[in-house]
Amino acid sequence: MATVTATAHPNIALVKYWGKRDHSLNLPAVPSVSLTLDGFQTTTTVTWGAPVERVLFDGVELVEDPRVSRFLDRVAYPRPPCEVVTNNNFPTGAGLASSASGFAALALAASRAAGQELDQVELSILARQGSGSACRSIFGGFVAWDMGGRPDGRDDHARPLKGPDFWDVRMVVSVVEDGPKAVGSTAGMERSRASSPLWPAWLAMSPGMVKQAIGAIHARDLERLGTVMEQSTFAMHATMQTAVPPLLYWQPTTLAVLQQVFALRAQGIGAWATMDAGPQVKVLCEAADAETVASALAPVSLQVFVHSPGVGAHVVA
Ligand code: PMV
Repeated sequence: MATVTATAHPNIALVKYWGKRDHSLNLPAVPSVSLTLDGFQTTTTVTWGAPVERVLFDGVELVEDPRVSRFLDRVAYPRPPCEVVTNNNFPTGAGLASSASGFAALALAASRAAGQELDQVELSILARQGSGSACRSIFGGFVAWDMGGRPDGRDDHARPLKGPDFWDVRMVVSVVEDGPKAVGSTAGMERSRASSPLWPAWLAMSPGMVKQAIGAIHARDLERLGTVMEQSTFAMHATMQTAVPPLLYWQPTTLAVLQQVFALRAQGIGAWATMDAGPQVKVLCEAADAETVASALAPVSLQVFVHSPGVGAHVVA
C-alpha cells in the first residue's frame, strides 16, 4: 500500500482545443496552446491498495461517478481498490479548467502510488485520457499540444514551450457565475462537430492560429498573442452557437465583462479576453496592467482573481 499526494494547476487555452478525432482516447481534432496558472490548484491524494474503493471530492463521497475508477484502470489493470481524496481551491465544472488540473494531479499521484515513475511525456499521455486539456497541465508556463498521428495516441501529448518565468504576464479571471455548466465539453464538442456549418472552417484555421501564438510567445509580443487568442475563442464559440440546438455558454454578465475589456483596449491598455465552455472571462495582460484590469472588471464580476504563470504538476508528499 502506497500513498502519494500531487498538486496541479489549471491551464487556460490561448488557442483552443475543441473537437475530438477519437473519443475513448481523447485525441484532439485540432492543436492548441495554453498557459498554466498559479493560484488555483487541485491537490489529490491516492492510496493504492485500500480496503474499499472510495473517491472523496471536496469532502463529498462520489458514489455515482465512475470516471475516477475508469481512469485508475488506465494506470494499471488489474489493480487493487484505491482511495482518492481530491480538493480544489476554486469553483469546479464552471469553465475554470478544473478537469485539467484534476486529471493532471490524479495521473501523477496515482501512477506514483502504483509504483510507476512516468516521465512528463508519459504523464501527459495518461492525463489526456482523463480529460484532453489535462495533458497540458503536466507542464508549467506556456505549453503546446500538437496533434499526434498514431491511432493509439502514444504520440499525442503536450510539450513545454516556455517556462513560467519566461514572460511576466497575468491572467485576470472574472467569475460571473458560480454554478456548474449546462453542457459538458465532450457533449458540446460532439454537438458542434455534428451540426455546426462552421466546423470545417474551425478545423482549417486552428493550425495557423497555433503557429501565430507560438511565434508571439517566443517574441513576447502580447498584442499578437492577445489578438490570435481572441480570434480562437470567438471562432470556437461561433461553432458552439451555430450548433443545433445552439450551445450558449455566455451569460449577460459575460458580455458586460467583454465590453469592459474592449473599453480598456480603446484606452490603450493591452488586455485581451478568452472564454471556455462556461460563462467566465479570462483576460490576458502585462503584469503592470493587472491591477487596472482587475479594478475595471470588479464592478461587473462576482469575483476577480489575478494569476501569474504557474508550474507543472508535482508531487508534494
Ligand atoms: O479537457 P476538456 O474535455 O474539458 O476540454 C476543454 C475544452 C476547452 O476548455 C473549452 C478548451 C481548451 O482547450 O481547454
